[in-house]
Amino acid sequence: MTTAARRPADAAYRSIRPLHHLRPVHRLAAAAALLLSGAAATHAAPVWVSMDEAAFQVLQAQRIAHTEVERHALPASTERLSRPGHEALVILQAEEDDLARLSLAAHQALHRCGGFMVHESRQEARQAVAAADRHLRQGRMATQATVPDYRLNDQSKVNPLLPQLKESEILATISKLQSYTNRYYRHNVGARASNELADSWRALAPGRTDVTVSQFNHPNFVQKSVILEIRGTVAPEEIIVIGGHLDSITPQAVLRPGGRAPGADDDASGIATLQEVMRVLLQSGYKPERTIQFIGYAGEEAGLLGSKDIAKAYAAQGRNVMGALQLDMTDYKGSSSDITLITDYTNAPQDDFVAALAAGYLPELKVVRDVCGYACSDHASWTANGYAASFPFEAAFGEDNPRIHTTKDTLSQIGNSAAHALKFARLALAYAVELGSDHGPAAP
Ligand code: BES
Ligand code: ZN
Repeated sequence: MTTAARRPADAAYRSIRPLHHLRPVHRLAAAAALLLSGAAATHAAPVWVSMDEAAFQVLQAQRIAHTEVERHALPASTERLSRPGHEALVILQAEEDDLARLSLAAHQALHRCGGFMVHESRQEARQAVAAADRHLRQGRMATQATVPDYRLNDQSKVNPLLPQLKESEILATISKLQSYTNRYYRHNVGARASNELADSWRALAPGRTDVTVSQFNHPNFVQKSVILEIRGTVAPEEIIVIGGHLDSITPQAVLRPGGRAPGADDDASGIATLQEVMRVLLQSGYKPERTIQFIGYAGEEAGLLGSKDIAKAYAAQGRNVMGALQLDMTDYKGSSSDITLITDYTNAPQDDFVAALAAGYLPELKVVRDVCGYACSDHASWTANGYAASFPFEAAFGEDNPRIHTTKDTLSQIGNSAAHALKFARLALAYAVELGSDHGPAAP
């Protein structure tokens, strides 16, 4: 039985107090999913939760019962100035079942997910707050031991590869991925989408002993993450990650396995973008000096679940991830600018490097910066584990594709084109080759 049967989405929607003075949004789906997908699966039990000030205000407005409130002021940060409600993190205890209501209300009120995290204990909640605090105090620096050389010095390798990236290939991959009924992380069809993605990645590297495709198993759900690794020739222990999420979500898919969730832009576009980079690197015979991993994360839409497991495992194994690039929504041109660099839960020096890559290799593109305001995609999982992550996004926040998390997130709704995604493929290829090609640490 799905949790949906026990607790219909409608009931949660109806129990939301109206917040008419706040900005309306179209994207209730992720919140509905959160409600139905796990957190609310069991009967009432108090859990430890951390959230920002904005979400806490929504919680209070909804009169959601809570106790043990602790407020932790965060260091000032220019990134957050444009978005009020991020001055502090609040730790509290609440009923697990009430969190769904918070999530739905946050979507309506704040145009975002609840942005709260559930923790096993008060101590674990405090640790998460301390990690966020550290990240901000260090000026969004990663805690990794070595920093790569961010100077652009591989023009002779990057430039011949860029024209080999094809819009038609990206389009074909998005088309294939959107044709699954859904790619929901708890349904068999979502597991199958992962298996078949692994098969098609395997087919891209016949006979290459330095290339492996594996699936990362997540104990709590059926969908696996997919990893294609090109082993580095000089410093294989230094890893560059390019990722996107392979799962999709809509309220319909959450409710039943046959529910439609095409997720063309969110995030078939990101997977198709990174797969095209992979195709060109492999077919050209490029051999990186560092290891490059392309990752399709499972279960992102339910709280960054796949990337959380992977980044945590890598950190526990002491793996040296030198940088992670997230591609989540690349194919809807909602702004006059081309690429929006998200600057929260990302690494400042690497963000500057990504901007420099665009300026150097793709000077025709207009790059701007903006914040999500919360841990909105898998880059945040790498950041939380001390790694440098960046997130180039399709539009300014709020000008992005309005149809995500609906059955209308399809290619035809974005003009049956992958012209916008192609820009991200070029950027990601430059990122892969510039970081993949020099193994030495930054010059002093
Ligand atoms: N692709 C979105 C993230 C996104 C949406 C970023 C719009 C910027 C603008 C992602 O798949 C997503 O839906 N994330 C959730 C949060 C996640 C922790 C469940 C969201 O934004 O509600
Ligand atoms: Zn997404």
